[in-house]
Amino acid sequence: MRRPIIAGNWKMNKTISEGVDFVKEIKHLGDNTDVEVVVCVPFVSLLSVKKELEASNIKLGAQNIHFEENGAYTGEISPLMLKEIGVDYAIIGHSERREYFNETNETVNKKVKSSLAHDIKPIVCVGETLEEREDNSAKEKIKTQITKALEDVSKDDMKNIVLAYEPIWAIGTGKTASSEDANEMISYIRNLIRDKYDEEISEEVRIQYGGSVKPNNVTEIMNEPDIDGALVGGASLKKDDFTELVRF
Ligand code: 13P
Repeated sequence: MRRPIIAGNWKMNKTISEGVDFVKEIKHLGDNTDVEVVVCVPFVSLLSVKKELEASNIKLGAQNIHFEENGAYTGEISPLMLKEIGVDYAIIGHSERREYFNETNETVNKKVKSSLAHDIKPIVCVGETLEEREDNSAKEKIKTQITKALEDVSKDDMKNIVLAYEPIWAIGTGKTASSEDANEMISYIRNLIRDKYDEEISEEVRIQYGGSVKPNNVTEIMNEPDIDGALVGGASLKKDDFTELVRF
């Protein structure tokens, strides 16, 4: 049985004090549940939020990571820095980073390997644009993204990776992929993992859906057999919405 994982991606929202106040109110959500709950917060808030989450079962995630441990990379944050804070997860290759910050399949792969080497679990994002979906090249795009992101990643390491399918046209738009379409793509991704590794790991790897997940569609999405969780932007910023999502 794959453990469901609901992760909030705050993106560039909430100041440090707003973030701390927010987790104070939701930190019980990881208790008495089979669901793994994660909050991925801005770099500057990680330390304060970590302290607030000390006695809670909620995991902490960063929204990016650099692949080098240190060096002349102005403005970047290394895995050593994140590890010292006690970060559990790092989102890697979010479409917003690919689109606005020139993240490529190659840098995604480097970040995945570096993150694994430092014992931080990657949440690796893939997804197609609307044009790619309409011209039937979505699967090809996803295949390339998955193959390149996981280049030289061992089966053992694969056990520590979470994949997230986030169709770009569904992010922040209020449009969700239908739960059947999302499941179809996620099952396709699972098959890619089976082809690259084996049946065992393909059954074990957790794959989330992301893109306008809200309290009113989360149950349907989570009822799909291949969807193991959600990576949530907007609705993860509100206490009541996030609570409903975690309790899908
Ligand atoms: P929304 O839930 O706001 O559509 O964002 C999805 C997302 O990009 C999560 O990483």
